Amino acid sequence: MLVHTIKEVREKVNEWKKANLTIGLVPTMGALHEGHLSLIKKATSCCDKVVVSAFVNPIQFGINEDFDKYPRTIEQDYKLCTENGVDILFNPSVKEMYGTNEQTNSNNFTYVTPPYFYVDKLCGASRIGHFDGVCTVVLKLFNIVQPNKAFFGQKDAQQAIIIKKMVNDLNVPVEIITCPIIRNSDGLALSSRNQYLSESGKKEALALNKILNNINNCYLKGITDIKALKETAFSFLNSHHELEYLEFFDSEDLSPKNQADSNTRIFIACRVDGIRLIDNIKLGE
Ligand code: PAJ
Repeated sequence: MLVHTIKEVREKVNEWKKANLTIGLVPTMGALHEGHLSLIKKATSCCDKVVVSAFVNPIQFGINEDFDKYPRTIEQDYKLCTENGVDILFNPSVKEMYGTNEQTNSNNFTYVTPPYFYVDKLCGASRIGHFDGVCTVVLKLFNIVQPNKAFFGQKDAQQAIIIKKMVNDLNVPVEIITCPIIRNSDGLALSSRNQYLSESGKKEALALNKILNNINNCYLKGITDIKALKETAFSFLNSHHELEYLEFFDSEDLSPKNQADSNTRIFIACRVDGIRLIDNIKLGE
């Protein structure tokens, strides 16, 4: 069922709650691919009812980012949801979510601001305000759908950690389930933004996963010095790549690491022919 209003979602959710059914929520921005479908499959396997939201959330995009050109494919998304046993695809308008089509900001709307320690690094460092926008919309979705469980991908590992922190700090009664990264057969992590890449860009984009795998192999051979591990990346980069970060942090709480160990996650962001791509891997995985 394709639903555009909060009221309709609430009506269904109230029915389900009365019947004591377990509700799963998969928040997305639409343009669904196998990565999203893996979350949906996990949700349908452990919940009685599943809501998928498809909402391109304006407040998590910076002014020079791709909000306007972000792919919107709601008919195809609806078909995929129906085929995969989703009960509601929630596709609200910006007005439905924020009460106005005017620009929403923290002067006219209540925002959820995650702790600076979690956002001053990785994607948060270059995308100022991004995680405020993410947390705000995700908390709104939690309040609208009131799910027992919500599903997030490890593809956006910093996002999943920040959502868990928000849920813990604000006592939100939902269980956060993190699902593994889905890749294509060449190892490229699936992303709605991959469709911006040219054929040659798709080949160059494989460098991200190659760098992570190579570092992991070096770690497995016994190298734990982070500087030495970082240096192995450069042989995979050429003029098509603009490395934004290659960082090592604790997999649970994003604290810095002096030496690589089995709780370390490596995070990479790189522009390939101008398209910003991210990937990550936990050492030893
Ligand atoms: P979006 O980029 O559409 O991603 C929705 C969910 O799908 C996220 O939890 C993301 O980590 C997961 N996902 C995307 N690609 C994946 C892949 N290759 N493998 C596994 N999971 C993958 O993330 C967002 O939307 C938004 O920030 C949102 C949380 C919906 C808030 O607006």
